[in-house]
Amino acid sequence: MVKKYTGIAIALHWIIAVGIVVNLLLPNIWEAAGDENVRPLINLHKSIGVTVLGLAVMRLLWRLTHRPPALPASYKPWEVTASHAAHWALYALILAIPLTGWIMDSAWKDAAANPMQWFGLFEWPRIGPVMGLDEATKKGVHDSFGEAHEILGYAMWALWALHVGAALKHQFMDGEKELQRMLP
Ligand code: HEM
Repeated sequence: MVKKYTGIAIALHWIIAVGIVVNLLLPNIWEAAGDENVRPLINLHKSIGVTVLGLAVMRLLWRLTHRPPALPASYKPWEVTASHAAHWALYALILAIPLTGWIMDSAWKDAAANPMQWFGLFEWPRIGPVMGLDEATKKGVHDSFGEAHEILGYAMWALWALHVGAALKHQFMDGEKELQRMLP
């Protein structure tokens, strides 16, 4: 009998996973796109990103209030430790990446003239205390959080590869029903 995550945890896992992968790929797409397509693609990136942030907060609350299903007994102690470390690092990244993006965007010098629209439906707020900084400090915040946003994006690719690689190894080399734990 496979021990599964709850429906809420499964839904949050897959919606966040798709949002993260799309947002990791979008910068490559807008770099290749013509000038007229860049702004709409960045706006889409921001809308997906703040949605991921909201869902990541819900996911963390779920995790802090529920015990996930026990890992299969065949896991070696080091695999249990490594998987917990990777999962907590992933929680940290799904919060930190959109948060650094939102802070960077709030410190953008043209933020006031370009309100952020959530999928074109309503205005999504910038972070007031960041927008209110003087111009020089704002530039420093924009550049440093932009740098952090980029570096965390690379870290996410690395952890993503580890996470997916480990799941597939348990599924196909160890013969565990690993993927079924996170499938409806
Ligand atoms: C799912 C969450 C997110 C992921 C995985 C993500 C990932 C990335 C990556 C990989 C880049 C390219 C960095 C580079 O090479 O310079 C980027 C750029 C950017 N992101 Fe995000 N991001 C996320 C959320 C957000 C949010 C919430 C915002 C703002 C509200 C945002 C705003 C931006 C902006 C403004 C840029 C730079 C655009 C430019 O080049 O001018 N991101 N993001």
